Amino acid sequence: MKKLLATSVLAAALVSVAAIALEDGPFTAEQARSGAALYGANCAGCHGARLQGAGEAPPLAGISFMAAWGNRSVDELYNLVKASMPYGNGNSLDVDSYRKIVAYVLLANGAKPGNAALAGSEAVKIGSVADGKAEEMSVDVGRAFRFPKSLGFTVDNDIRARIGWQQTRSSTFINDLARGGSSRLSDIGRSSVSMNADTDLSETVIFTLQGSRVITYDNNFNRRATQYVLSTVFQVQFFGEPK
Ligand code: HEC
Repeated sequence: MKKLLATSVLAAALVSVAAIALEDGPFTAEQARSGAALYGANCAGCHGARLQGAGEAPPLAGISFMAAWGNRSVDELYNLVKASMPYGNGNSLDVDSYRKIVAYVLLANGAKPGNAALAGSEAVKIGSVADGKAEEMSVDVGRAFRFPKSLGFTVDNDIRARIGWQQTRSSTFINDLARGGSSRLSDIGRSSVSMNADTDLSETVIFTLQGSRVITYDNNFNRRATQYVLSTVFQVQFFGEPK
């Protein structure tokens, strides 16, 4: 018998405490998405598919980009790109494409999309919305097990459990050639541990328990925020014959 499966979440509870974040970037997710394709077609040939730079073309993401651009504004970046890029062919794309490409460059440097579309005249400091690209690392372990009968449990269902660990850290340094030193612009990160267990209460009801602990830190300002999240979800599944 074929079955149609629909899942609905009946109840969920969530406890959460806010953490430190960058301001939203002055562009929309939509702009950055189409900017990625336009970047691929017009810029990646010289600056690299991952904005890593090559030969004479400098990197457009990461530590060295942030060192050059962190204290400059979004409109400066937009004006430079529009006037002189693709190299030797400035002003060859339409204004909207330049906006989208700059939105994508900001996104690639860790900026978060916001509600306002990028116009190109924003005086926002790039360092206040972007932190260079973050390195990510994550581990996930998952397995199913049963309540041990020997302990007197009568439930005969698998408990599917997952434990995950994730760490993100991003630091930006500036090399001061004149003074021969290196100073830290930013050193921020986040580490989290999460646990997730679910079991079938009956053929149509799944119970899920999730918990996590997230630590966000900013070493420059010596700030640290810890957040605990605990949530429970009941899922009810509906079965029906396809028409
Ligand atoms: C034909 C190769 C080529 C293409 C295509 C190209 N660039 Fe460049 N780009 C360069 C070179 C070379 C430089 C360095 C110019 C200089 O130093 O005067 C540069 C510099 C830049 C800079 C200044 C970086 C800095 O840190 O000073 C930005 C930003 C930039 N390009 C963005 C773009 C964007 C966005 C596109 C696509 C619309 C693009 N480029 C297409 C070769 C290219």
